[in-house]
Amino acid sequence: MTISIKTQNLTRSFGDFVAVDKLSLSINSGEIFGLLGPNAAGKSTVIRLLAGILQANSGEAHILGLDLFSQTDSIKQRIGYVAQQFSLYPDLTVLENIVFYAGLYGVEDKVRLNYLLDLYDLSQFKNKLAGLLSGGYKRRLAIACATTHDPELIFLDEPTAGIDPVTRKELWDLFYSLATSGKTLFVTTHYMEEAERCNRLAFLNHGKLVAQGTPAEIRSSLNNRLVYSCDIQHDPVLTSALIIDPAIQLVNQFGRELRIITDISVTLEQLQHIISKHYERSFQLKKVTPSIEDAFISLTSNGGKQ
Ligand SMILES: Nc1ncnc2c1ncn2[C@@H]1O[C@H](COP(=O)(O)OP(=O)(O)O)[C@@H](O)[C@H]1O
Ligand SMILES: [Mg+2]
Repeated sequence: MTISIKTQNLTRSFGDFVAVDKLSLSINSGEIFGLLGPNAAGKSTVIRLLAGILQANSGEAHILGLDLFSQTDSIKQRIGYVAQQFSLYPDLTVLENIVFYAGLYGVEDKVRLNYLLDLYDLSQFKNKLAGLLSGGYKRRLAIACATTHDPELIFLDEPTAGIDPVTRKELWDLFYSLATSGKTLFVTTHYMEEAERCNRLAFLNHGKLVAQGTPAEIRSSLNNRLVYSCDIQHDPVLTSALIIDPAIQLVNQFGRELRIITDISVTLEQLQHIISKHYERSFQLKKVTPSIEDAFISLTSNGGKQ
């Protein structure tokens, strides 16, 4: 298996603030690698470092077997980058945008450009102004523009942010087809459900890597825990009471669902009893399969015990 990206202790600060802290990553060729993390975790900074746009303060990195620091120009010819706030020319047509970006890489091959229009389902809109496309099609065009030179490795910074679920699924289908054709995709997202769609993923929090592995490996960090789900209105008094109970590792409310992570020894009846001590109304409690989000919250919140 070939490795597309390898970093060792990659670090970048802005003044005193460490935005990316000793990042060590390894990403295989042909995989969809997801970098997840809350806002301001450092995801975009990692992409900017790996794409050679921003200089690291220390550490090492190899991209497509090349040294990131001494061979940056060669790397740039072989990677594509779609920024979080990507820019298209709204008053140019779809085709004119693609031709413009292709020109930056010296690509004039009409067959290639037509292939891109087809691949991204843009042929029907080729004479439409880019500014008039829907959000999903703007993303497709941005990816097409960033890949005119047929890069082996594509960085996509929050490519699905603010996009409806159906269009997000279509974009992911596109990512799969790119990966199937041998491309390596490095995708950042803050949507937890997208974690499951990655071959491998890493979680970043405050610039530090807290976990990396396949979705199953990440979930297995909760192997010695049980996860319960409770249908209960948010009640701060209950939440505070539960978190100080020694049997409980973590509580997290999502709307009406309270997720409770406990030691493996805690039975449904015991938990029912603990909750009843603090909550008088009736509620439904059940044991559930740990999700990636449970694992992530558990890993980033120090077990919930602050
Ligand atoms: N050029 C910069 N100058 C100063 N601080 C920055 C700069 N770029 C990013 N940061 C800070 O670094 C942190 C990580 O930012 P970013 O990588 O954009 O996070 P994310 O993409 O995960 O939301 C944030 O606190 C941000 O304000
Ligand atoms: Mg970002």
